[in-house]
Amino acid sequence: MASGISRRALLVGGGAAAALPITGLVKGAVVNDRASATAENPAVEPFDGVHQAGIATRPQAHAVFLGLDLKPGSDREAIVRLMRLLTDDARRLTQGRPALADTEPELATDPARLTVTFGFGPGLFKAAKVDSPVAPLPSFTVDKLEKRWSGGDLLVQICADDPITVAHALRMTVKDARSFAGIRWTQRGFRRRAGVGGTGETQRNLMGQLDGTVNPADLDRAVWIGQGPEGMRGGTTVVLRRIRMNLETWDAADRPAREFTIGRRLDTGAPLTGRAEHDEPDFARLNRLGFPVIPEYAHIRRARVDDPGQRILRRPYNYDDGLTADGTSDSGLLFASYQADIDRQFVPVQRRLAEGDLLNEWITPIGSAVFAVPPGCAADGWVGDRLLG
Ligand code: HEM
Repeated sequence: MASGISRRALLVGGGAAAALPITGLVKGAVVNDRASATAENPAVEPFDGVHQAGIATRPQAHAVFLGLDLKPGSDREAIVRLMRLLTDDARRLTQGRPALADTEPELATDPARLTVTFGFGPGLFKAAKVDSPVAPLPSFTVDKLEKRWSGGDLLVQICADDPITVAHALRMTVKDARSFAGIRWTQRGFRRRAGVGGTGETQRNLMGQLDGTVNPADLDRAVWIGQGPEGMRGGTTVVLRRIRMNLETWDAADRPAREFTIGRRLDTGAPLTGRAEHDEPDFARLNRLGFPVIPEYAHIRRARVDDPGQRILRRPYNYDDGLTADGTSDSGLLFASYQADIDRQFVPVQRRLAEGDLLNEWITPIGSAVFAVPPGCAADGWVGDRLLG
């Protein structure tokens, strides 16, 4: 415990900025804006930069999403202290260095493309007495939300290509957060490891579909916030939905029905009107009987947003939490969607899907949370410094 106290004194005590053990870089400098691991070390993703890592970063194979609730009575000062500590942990661990007072420093040496991304929920802004850029979502007709998977003041999204790295980063984070916040939920997810399942970049979900084909190319328009209050510029927002899949009834659907449901082929991911995964779907094409080849209520027709600058960035993870009491699998998708503006981008798509999407027969949203993702920080900064500092 002694090391924990000295560490706290170092990081958050009086004159903390001067005492910060992170030195050597010009104050205010933005060090890195790269979306992928550095050329020198492919296992290390940059931490400091214009944007937080873990969003534009090529998705790693493992993730845990941690939802924290601030202790009652927390004020801005407490949140600043917490964010200084958690930023320091994240900065060290992502760069392959042990956290301060790391009890298992050997677990930190290979970061396996670790990223740690922070999001602030409406409750955190309320506690800090700062206007919140995000509000809870409206309810949707398909929702069967459970409190144990919903809401939260602070999101810590931890992703890496190795599950031990993820577990270690989670433990270090929770240890330091403990005196400021309680755990609301942890949600673990996984994706195909790079190189497994062909050469394609797109992952497969547990329904067997290629998931992640259509995403915005221009993140400056679709994802990063470029206007409004200075403290969020270069940041974004995230909607995390826990969506259960009913794989037992999905098993009963035949292949044509499954492909109709999405509007794409299961093997190649090509639209039903095309041959390759990235062919543009032809939503106007009719079959010989005069019906649309991609059905009216196919998932991709209902989810389509014509303006690429208004699309959401999907970076989903699968979850599989064993079996329920009746022996069916407790699986689904941790659907993480990043966008500059939730009301303009996410809500209309989710509303169209709730009103009519063939996929609704097999999926149920059981968790939902929204967070503002502050921009990245300079080498001597901490995440959220421009919002709360
Ligand atoms: C378990 C739930 C879900 C599953 C299994 C699923 C699956 C898929 C699949 C297989 C595709 C086609 C390939 C691709 O472009 O990635 C797709 C596309 C898409 N999905 Fe979902 N999805 C789910 C939930 C959602 C939700 C909740 C939203 C948004 C609120 C959403 C939005 C989209 C969008 C925007 C596209 C691209 C449409 C296009 O422009 O072609 N999906 N989804």
